Amino acid sequence: MSSTTERSLVLIKPDAVRRGLLGEILSRFERKGLIVEALELRTMDESLADAHYAEHVDKAFYPPLKEFMTSGPLAALVLTGDSVIEVVRAMIGATDGRKAAAGTIRGDLSLSNRENLVHASDSPESAERELALWFPKL
Ligand code: TYD
Ligand code: MG
Repeated sequence: MSSTTERSLVLIKPDAVRRGLLGEILSRFERKGLIVEALELRTMDESLADAHYAEHVDKAFYPPLKEFMTSGPLAALVLTGDSVIEVVRAMIGATDGRKAAAGTIRGDLSLSNRENLVHASDSPESAERELALWFPKL
């Protein structure tokens, strides 16, 4: 794997904040060696939810997902580091917490296919799009 410093947009979702897992999850990223370049506690409004999840707005699971994602504060982060996009996706694990591998954030801490604690950009293109939505001045 070649070395590339890049940025990822990561959301520590409202379920994590409610459950008191913000520190645990942030700590995993810090211990890995990733750098927190920006960090803000925010509540997603409906229009940001629709833009952020543009690829999912027409799916059956979207209405309850939107309800959940706008239900309370979340932590929005910009993480940087070598291959951060791929590294963070591996650290969070599969979408469904029931199926995510042990050792991953979702595998260790979530039992849900919706309330799965973390969002992370899945490609350089989605990172660019999501960073522009969440941190337009960065
Ligand atoms: P997706 O982009 O497929 O997963 P990921 O977050 O791993 O990139 O889906 C976005 C979010 O939508 C996912 O984190 C949780 C929610 N979701 C559901 O509520 N039900 C579903 O069946 C799926 C696939 C996702
Ligand atoms: Mg996704």
